[in-house]
Amino acid sequence: MSDKSREIREKHAKYLFPSVANYYAESVCLDQGEGSRLTDVDGKKYLDFFGGILTVSLGQAHPKVNAALKAQIDRLGHVSTLYPTASIVELAEKLVKVAPGKLEKAFFVASGTEADETAVALAQIATGRQEIIALRHGYSGRSMLAQSLTAHSKYRAVPTQIAAIKHAPSPYCYRCPMGLTYPSCDVKCARDIEELIQTTTTGQIAGFLAEPIQGVGGFIDAPEGYFKVAVEIIRKYGGVFIADEVQTGFGRTGGKMWGIEHHGVEPDIMTMAKGIANGLPLGGVLATAAIADSWKGGNISTFGGNPLSNVAALAVLETIEEEHLVENAAVMGKHLREGLEALKKRFPKSIGEVRGKGLMQALEFVADETEGDRTPAPEKVTKLFEETKKRGLLIGRGGLYNNVTRISPALNVKKVDIDEALRILGDALATFAS
Ligand SMILES: Cc1ncc(COP(=O)(O)O)c(C=O)c1O
Repeated sequence: MSDKSREIREKHAKYLFPSVANYYAESVCLDQGEGSRLTDVDGKKYLDFFGGILTVSLGQAHPKVNAALKAQIDRLGHVSTLYPTASIVELAEKLVKVAPGKLEKAFFVASGTEADETAVALAQIATGRQEIIALRHGYSGRSMLAQSLTAHSKYRAVPTQIAAIKHAPSPYCYRCPMGLTYPSCDVKCARDIEELIQTTTTGQIAGFLAEPIQGVGGFIDAPEGYFKVAVEIIRKYGGVFIADEVQTGFGRTGGKMWGIEHHGVEPDIMTMAKGIANGLPLGGVLATAAIADSWKGGNISTFGGNPLSNVAALAVLETIEEEHLVENAAVMGKHLREGLEALKKRFPKSIGEVRGKGLMQALEFVADETEGDRTPAPEKVTKLFEETKKRGLLIGRGGLYNNVTRISPALNVKKVDIDEALRILGDALATFAS
């Protein structure tokens, strides 16, 4: 450890809220990056397979994103939403073009939390109703409303503030909340939403907010048929469907631009952030024209759709298109998935499940899958973190029980990088897992 990294860790402990937890027993103080290669302040190199929580879609210091930023910062840095800019209208137009269904209007904010806040308020305004259905194991962010939507006690600093939010069971097949097995379950977890509405709401719901793959929840991937049934029930009771694409958007799930497109269901409102601008702060809400038009009051976002974030997002969208990165995420995602399945075969006790789509893949760690003991094993993830760090690989963590690794390289990841990551994961697991 150098003086520099020691100083950073000491100042972090002294000046930041203690709730700002860092990964690893001794945190990694990152200093530089190019593509998927990062270097810490001590000069140690890492292969980045988490992308700042699925955010650096194109890798660090991407030439096209950086060129757009450099040109913009010397031209116009900030105006607020009170003045239209070429970049905000161009970004809105591009997003509407690639959005599913009839999402025709955009509103920009600075984070995923604000995007979800806006979407829920919009659903309430559009329907004239208050009650919202969210999902257990879901994550929506840090604000009071977002904490109330979130269904992880760990991320709730205060008790639920918004009583009009009801949580349906998560489509978490590996730990089915109904004790059933897919597909013979006939997606009972989705069908249960009807009874949830009938028993815990006035029956007059505003909408349903759900992530196509529950990210913080540990990449819980809803099975085929889930969203069709769930959204049909929501619409039967007059609610709108909000797809939270904060983690699953921008090609992350491979083969489709948006996670919800794998399910053949069109959202009425969609939220996005993270991967939209390669790390610049930006969130967005898309809605149908009728829903967007229902917001009659004023609506300012000081930082939302600022020119710097906009040009970064435009560069991300152009690169996704020009370099066929939605397709790359499918092809590379398949290669990654096959490698992870091979690791599950090699370590059958510890790895309970491999799941996800495209470049959003998870390993769930348990006590002993071969004996049917699915007791969450967060201590194995802690060991895997330390062993992969030693070998120069950064991965993410999640799940209600903190026993899931989240693996999400940049959309332009290459096969050699995936092979290197798989080799490191295998070597790291071999030190403690069976
Ligand atoms: C699905 C989802 N929605 C919303 C958020 C909140 O986004 P932010 O941290 O940008 O406020 C997150 C953050 O992890 C998320 O994963």
